[in-house]
Amino acid sequence: MRVLVTGAAGFIGSNVCDRLIADGHTVFGVDDLSRGTLSNIEDAARGGSFDFERFDVTDPGFPALVARVAPESVCHLAAQIDVRVSVADPLLDARLNLLGTINALEAARLAGVDKFVFTSSGGSIYGTPAALPVDESQPLSPESQYAAGKAACELYLNVYRAAYGLRSSSLALANVYGPRQDPHGEAGVVAIFSTAMLLGRPTRIYGDGSQIRDYVFVGDVADAFASVCVPGTGDGRRFNIGTGSQTSVCDLHSLIAETVGVPDEPLFAPPRLGELQAIALDWSLAARELGWRPRRVLRAGIVETVDWIRSRLAT
Ligand SMILES: NC(=O)c1ccc[n+]([C@@H]2O[C@H](COP(=O)([O-])OP(=O)(O)OC[C@H]3O[C@@H](n4cnc5c(N)ncnc54)[C@H](O)[C@@H]3O)[C@@H](O)[C@H]2O)c1
Repeated sequence: MRVLVTGAAGFIGSNVCDRLIADGHTVFGVDDLSRGTLSNIEDAARGGSFDFERFDVTDPGFPALVARVAPESVCHLAAQIDVRVSVADPLLDARLNLLGTINALEAARLAGVDKFVFTSSGGSIYGTPAALPVDESQPLSPESQYAAGKAACELYLNVYRAAYGLRSSSLALANVYGPRQDPHGEAGVVAIFSTAMLLGRPTRIYGDGSQIRDYVFVGDVADAFASVCVPGTGDGRRFNIGTGSQTSVCDLHSLIAETVGVPDEPLFAPPRLGELQAIALDWSLAARELGWRPRRVLRAGIVETVDWIRSRLAT
């Protein structure tokens, strides 16, 4: 199958490309390289099954590119990913994430794509649920502009399905971590803590560190994309992709400090706007319909991530 992946040079997108290529698919990657890097797609580019074009998914020329590539499936991951950026500059967030997704849906419709996979945010669209873990029947209750944009994109998936028969699924990801996550942004706490500790720099926790998150390994997330991008699989559904485990930021910090072998001594700073107190995802629908499950437990995933960052810092 021929799959077009947007955000292909990013953290999750590049892992999705590798996984699809390993499964025997032909992949066309698109990324404007605003955050992603060509080094992330070096592995993908080594075989003969990967092409890449630097392109902005909000560009009016994007439908022509998708028509030229003529993919059976589109995995749409291109986005700005920082909740704080969406709070500080809501128009920028809406332009990149909402308008970018509408442009990608238009492109998919015009090119006759069989399956469109949207990357939603299970860590933010449900707001602050009464009980954890949340399943997909929980009403959407965004508490940040980033979350509202992701929820709005899901409504557009429904419109394109009802009006044009465009088959789609949404993967609502928990907090993803693993190799290739950028430690320089504000999102991606595992990469930020691990890199700082390996460099002997201080780490900072915003709030008291009791915030609960669900950390899912990027290889497991790539498995979910590989399953759901097949036309006829999970159409019209949102799938939570997480572990259901509830880990506090302080416990995560301790686990990384233990793995790196440094004292567990974070600094504390005031909490940040738009962040939820607690979230964890029930992934049983993905288990039932996709045969998906999270394979990597947090401790093993942290070891693999720290090893990868250590090897990168050494080069
Ligand atoms: N990392 C997480 O924990 C997490 C959780 C839930 C959802 N997501 C979603 O997963 C997707 C991938 O996130 P990530 O963590 O890999 O972040 P990332 O920043 O590494 O990847 C996003 C990629 O999109 C590219 N991009 C941004 N705007 C673009 C545009 N207009 N045109 C083309 N390319 C563009 C960036 O250069 C980058 O390579 C995003 O949609 C994000 O909202 C991530």
